Amino acid sequence: MSTPVPISASRFQAFDLLATLVAVVRSDGTVLFANAALEDTLGASRRTIEGSAFPGFFTEPQVLANALGGAESNAFAALRYDAWLHRAGHDPIPVHVIVAQTEQHGEIIIEMLPQEQQARQDREERLLDQAHANKELIRNLAHEIKNPLGGIRGAAQLLELEIDSRELTEYTQVIIREADRLQILVDRLLAPHRKPHLVGDVNIHEVCERVRALVQAEFPRGLQVVQDYDTSIPEFRGDREQLIQALLNIVHNAAQALAERIRTGDAQIILRTRIARQVTFGKQRYRLALELHVIDNGPGVPDSIKDRIFFPLVSGRQGGSGLGLTLAQTFVQQHHGLIECDSAAGRTDFKMLIPLP
Ligand SMILES: Nc1ncnc2c1ncn2[C@@H]1O[C@H](COP(=O)(O)OP(=O)(O)O)[C@@H](O)[C@H]1O
Ligand SMILES: [Mg+2]
Repeated sequence: MSTPVPISASRFQAFDLLATLVAVVRSDGTVLFANAALEDTLGASRRTIEGSAFPGFFTEPQVLANALGGAESNAFAALRYDAWLHRAGHDPIPVHVIVAQTEQHGEIIIEMLPQEQQARQDREERLLDQAHANKELIRNLAHEIKNPLGGIRGAAQLLELEIDSRELTEYTQVIIREADRLQILVDRLLAPHRKPHLVGDVNIHEVCERVRALVQAEFPRGLQVVQDYDTSIPEFRGDREQLIQALLNIVHNAAQALAERIRTGDAQIILRTRIARQVTFGKQRYRLALELHVIDNGPGVPDSIKDRIFFPLVSGRQGGSGLGLTLAQTFVQQHHGLIECDSAAGRTDFKMLIPLP
């Protein structure tokens, strides 16, 4: 079915870094190059795909054949449409196809974006944008609060020196105490942006064990913390303290959500580590990534705040600061990673994804 492919495909190798599926074909549909993502999705090796007729990989080959004809006759610069791609041993998947001409005559680039992947990518991009906007907002807000706060506290102290009545100093004490409380809050808001990034070799299980010890010390009875580790996970460069703090915030939330079950004695948190291969997040594709799950059997994240939990100051608890997850997300993003949440009554799963070298 194929004629030998005469040209070297090596100049297309940069396409292997992309998360989208890419094929370079001749106008007759013969594949000159298939990138790694396409190999993965089709479940076929590059050697099998290259040299074969690409339209045959679609449920409706004629659509692509027509598109290639159009590209050949310069009918368009780029054409987009939706189609179904066959996969060896799996159901076909819906993809968004973009057919584009190249500089090279007779070579056409076909880009295919799996639609579920597109939806997920959109969501992750939104999360990242959101986190970015959050950071800005927090920083600005914190500075706005910090400046007048010093003035308020100082004035209350001066006032206290001027008054003799004990009853009245109680009021100035309230002002000072509350100003101090706000000061601490503001410092916490500014902390992640100020803290230097201390990079070293991180063993993720050491991080997990530190957090486990801390939480078990706080909840010695009624809470089981299950270790489900993949010990083959390699060390990676990162800031250990930041990751401990991020994980602690997540596990802490889980323990707090489990209050009821801790009382009845059947509360459970699972710390699960896994290696994920060929994953995409934040538009980047990674060969390897660490997946760290914190799974609890609590009541789940309240529906009313579900899509906002990573926002600062969003809390579902009495007395909550609503900063725990914002900080955790910031720290993990500093490791080029992402935290996602999947929650239902009885099972809440916070997943931390961090790229591995
Ligand atoms: N594992 C969990 N189960 C149920 N709800 C959770 C869980 N983790 C977080 N939440 C919800 O998300 C909110 C925000 O968490 P966080 O940012 O740490 O702020 P805080 O803990 O100060 O409220 C919590 O108040 C809680 O309502
Ligand atoms: Mg919290």
